[in-house]
Amino acid sequence: MNLFIKIFENFFRLLRRFTPRNDKSLSIVILLIIIASCSPALYLPTEKHAEQSGIPLASLQQGRQIYVDHCGSCHMLFLPNQFTATKWKNEMEAMRLKITFSELEKKLMLDYLLVEK
Ligand code: HEC
Repeated sequence: MNLFIKIFENFFRLLRRFTPRNDKSLSIVILLIIIASCSPALYLPTEKHAEQSGIPLASLQQGRQIYVDHCGSCHMLFLPNQFTATKWKNEMEAMRLKITFSELEKKLMLDYLLVEK
């Protein structure tokens, strides 16, 4: 934890040096933007998603896990709301040329990705 704080402090110092007028609040804003852009916004399925879709929560969680394990190695993990349902289905099929997954895995991934649609 101490190491983490040290790294953070040094990073902050470096950032301040490159910020015009040595403006403290501006460097904080930049830092927050960097942190926000790093944090994955891939939602965790909740009981509410399960209720609304009629898909068991465990299946949605499994679908998310398969997606995270299989689909982030070549490109970023695209967010569910980035594409329409049709585009997701087509791209999922197209990805079969690049990576193997079973019909069941495909279904679980799509269930998770499309649950908010
Ligand atoms: C072996 C590398 C690789 C893996 C693994 C992979 N992809 Fe891709 N994906 C690509 C490449 C390369 C493209 C760029 C266009 C193309 O060739 O279709 C792409 C494009 C996409 C797109 C379209 C993006 C856009 O902006 O139009 C989607 C959606 C996608 N992949 C989803 C997935 C999903 C879901 C999985 C997991 C099942 C996955 N990918 C796994 C290489 C991969």
